[in-house]
Amino acid sequence: MKLIVAVDEKWGIGKNGDLLLSIPDDMRFFRETTRRAILVMGYNTLMSFPGGRPLPGRMNIVLNDTEGVRADGTVICGSIEQLFGFLRDMNSDDVFVIGGGSVYRQLLPYCDTAYITKMRFCGDADTFIPDLDGLSEWSVISESEIKEHEGIKYSFVEYRNSAPLSVGFSGVNSDMPSYFVKRAEIGFTYPDITSGEYRNELNSLIKAYFRPLYGGVSCAEVAECINSSMSAEAFLKEKGCIASAGDFERLYEKYAPDNKGGHTVRVTKERAAEFIESDLNADKLAELFS
Ligand SMILES: NC(=O)c1ccc[n+]([C@@H]2O[C@H](COP(=O)([O-])OP(=O)(O)OC[C@H]3O[C@@H](n4cnc5c(N)ncnc54)[C@H](OP(=O)(O)O)[C@@H]3O)[C@@H](O)[C@H]2O)c1
Repeated sequence: MKLIVAVDEKWGIGKNGDLLLSIPDDMRFFRETTRRAILVMGYNTLMSFPGGRPLPGRMNIVLNDTEGVRADGTVICGSIEQLFGFLRDMNSDDVFVIGGGSVYRQLLPYCDTAYITKMRFCGDADTFIPDLDGLSEWSVISESEIKEHEGIKYSFVEYRNSAPLSVGFSGVNSDMPSYFVKRAEIGFTYPDITSGEYRNELNSLIKAYFRPLYGGVSCAEVAECINSSMSAEAFLKEKGCIASAGDFERLYEKYAPDNKGGHTVRVTKERAAEFIESDLNADKLAELFS
């Protein structure tokens, strides 16, 4: 598990619920480093994003213990124990702690790597993280050259933790981030023999494919997942929260077990709602969506 943060010279990270400074080069570094990652954040950090919306192209996991809270596109975990239970099948290297202050402090001992953007100025912060230079287990692995943005100098520093605490990741669901990449279209075979049940399952897959975690997953559902014998991946699939191209193939095989017949249909993200709402036969769908 890794941590990524931008700090001022006092290890301040935020003020009045917002960042101290937004450096475009640092934003780019954040986007590239966390591409296709599983992000862990506190509820205040989610609320600090534009419109309180999760970051696209990534799995967003949010810590919040208010009963019944859910946020579209996110998984809510009610405690660190619940978070670790939910993450148990993931790959440690895919998981990034992205703030804010309270979450960095709780998860720092479990991180093996920290990507720190050091900004050489005092932002008069009200939220801080511990000074890694003062912690014996943390040491600098690399540092970029000093850069400058609007008169403020900054550099990218990578720290390594020599004794991280274990989360117990198994890595069994190591492709979890692949469900969250941005998708433009899906192609699949629409069988000749169809039923309402097939169409319902197909529509649920299309929704989950283009809009993973639609409606959000509450911490009560996370608890249900942890208490079941299912992996997070299997649980989220069963709930219609995530889908992959392989799930469309499996659905075809389920309804056309002899693997014969059907039309290839291509559904774009823009036309997904139109496809879901259409009540046409296979020929007509193939004509409209091929
Ligand atoms: N510089 C950077 O790179 C960076 C990055 C991210 C954020 N930030 C800044 O950091 C500030 C936000 O930090 P923050 O400390 O105020 O908020 P935060 O850590 O983002 O979120 C705190 C929220 O998460 C919940 N939470 C935390 N740990 C929990 C746990 N173990 N179980 C259940 N819920 C938990 C808290 O619930 P309870 O209140 O019930 O405990 C609270 O609602 C903002 O200014 C933001 O801009 C800076």
